[in-house]
Amino acid sequence: MSRGQNVHTAEELIRIRRAAEVTASVRDRIANEVRAGMTTFDLDQIAGEIIRSTGGKSAFLGYCGYPGNICISVNDVVIHGIGRPDVIITENDVVSIDVGVEIDGAIGDTARTVCLNSAPPNDVKRLLQGTKDALMEGIAAALPGRRVADISRAVEQAAKRHKLGVVRDFVGHGCGIKMHEPPEVPNYTGWGQGPVLAPGMVLCIEPMLTLGSFKVNIDRSDKWTVRTADKSLSAHEEHMILITDKEPEILTWQKTM
Ligand code: MF3
Ligand code: CO
Ligand code: CO
Repeated sequence: MSRGQNVHTAEELIRIRRAAEVTASVRDRIANEVRAGMTTFDLDQIAGEIIRSTGGKSAFLGYCGYPGNICISVNDVVIHGIGRPDVIITENDVVSIDVGVEIDGAIGDTARTVCLNSAPPNDVKRLLQGTKDALMEGIAAALPGRRVADISRAVEQAAKRHKLGVVRDFVGHGCGIKMHEPPEVPNYTGWGQGPVLAPGMVLCIEPMLTLGSFKVNIDRSDKWTVRTADKSLSAHEEHMILITDKEPEILTWQKTM
């Protein structure tokens, strides 16, 4: 019985929508604060202030002991980068910003990847554009009556078209009241079909793509930072979506700026 998994009530959806909207605006405000020369610790502190100004709190800080307000993942760091005073952001860095905000008992979780250089090398352009395309194509596949694997396939095919590696050790997920709810939403196929998508389900779709291998390692000293095994650049884009009776609704769409 997989149908109806993680379907939220109308009352929950009111709070989830608001949390997602707040989180999206926080994500974009933080992205606008990125400057060459600042450290990722500086950016994490700014993020903490922005999150507090909403009346919400970081959904990441303290989650399984996570020590940062947000995740800031630079270059070969794929996800879960912790702000550090010794990591200085430069013009050509590929910087992923992943933000979670808890407000009124609901959670938003969204990420985007930016490069300060508006004309980066072609492979960086391909990485950034390919990851955005993979996210949007995954979202377009999230129709009621279809299955989680249809999302996975759409993401995987987009990645393949752009010749990007697909990280397999981390996946998207249900979200809304807890940060990680069922079902898992892998960015590759071959694991099964997953549950049927039904209106009221809220999913985080989050391709983690690389310019090289799909293989990743977790930093031995901080136990969080995930890097590509071959040191290739990586990008990460994440939206929270609501399955409806028609096209999905992107709950973390950019509404400001
Ligand atoms: N935001 C991540 C995700 O997209 C989870 C971060 S875990 C944390 O699922 F501990 F770093 F917060
Ligand atoms: Co996230
Ligand atoms: Co997520």
